[in-house]
Amino acid sequence: MTYQTLLFDVRDGIAFVTVNRPDKLNALNDQVMEELGRATERIATEPAIRGAILTGAGPKAFVAGADIAVLAQQGPFDGKARALRGQAVLRRLETCGKPVVAAVNGFALGGGCELAMACHLRIASENAKFGQPEVKLGILPGFGGTQRLARLVGRGLAVELILHGGHISAERALAIGLVNEVVEPDALLTRARQWLAECGKNGPRALAASLRAIREGLDLSLARGIELEAQIFGELCGTPEMIEGTTAFLQKREPKF
Ligand code: COA
Repeated sequence: MTYQTLLFDVRDGIAFVTVNRPDKLNALNDQVMEELGRATERIATEPAIRGAILTGAGPKAFVAGADIAVLAQQGPFDGKARALRGQAVLRRLETCGKPVVAAVNGFALGGGCELAMACHLRIASENAKFGQPEVKLGILPGFGGTQRLARLVGRGLAVELILHGGHISAERALAIGLVNEVVEPDALLTRARQWLAECGKNGPRALAASLRAIREGLDLSLARGIELEAQIFGELCGTPEMIEGTTAFLQKREPKF
């Protein structure tokens, strides 16, 4: 399977996905989104892939947003269709059942910030900048940004960032919970790999189930959310993975998942 706008490589069970349009700061055009959709499907369905790292090519940008040259041409119908297609790709990434880390190596603006938010963990380099500048273009975030940002940092900060449209530093992104960790630029991919390697020691079904409980539970009342948790908890009990995990603990050895 070939890609023109992505680099896709699987090493040690980790899919490395790099958006590769550095001359356009990795802006998301239709081709990038189509290829990201295919890459995401592979991540979701190939058993040999146990996690993924998403980053941008070049020293400047993770992804500087949807391609404004394309946006400039669109009317209401293709605009909505493009938003729906982009949302579906990001949703598939979010629901792929394996941990996906955004390694944010520079500008993460508009669709870039939205793409990072659809990942499960965000590690940023010190020089990263985040923002939802769509209002400056007369639109609003269309790849789920109005919804995910409010869920991630709360309504007040989401309103501030989306209505202001400016950039924030990696340090501020860390302070408000938009990113999990900030590291030196040279350490970014190593840290993302380390994090996935740590996660990879745990049961893959348990990881997928945890991601599902957190994701789906957030859309429910607390009472319904804990009900869902109990249901998923039950589904994991008695599985070979649970038997191996508990047996390994009792035998004082590392589990083999
Ligand atoms: N869509 C299309 N092209 C983009 C782009 C985007 N979102 N972001 C950057 N580019 C292109 C620029 O047009 C330029 O192309 P050119 O060399 O052919 O003129 C190239 O990438 C480099 O960008 P440039 O603006 O020259 O770099 P800079 O360092 O001066 O500024 C940014 C960097 C990120 C601040 C600036 O590019 C920017 O504001 N981009 C748009 C961000 C945005 O609004 N995203 C949300 C879109 S919905």
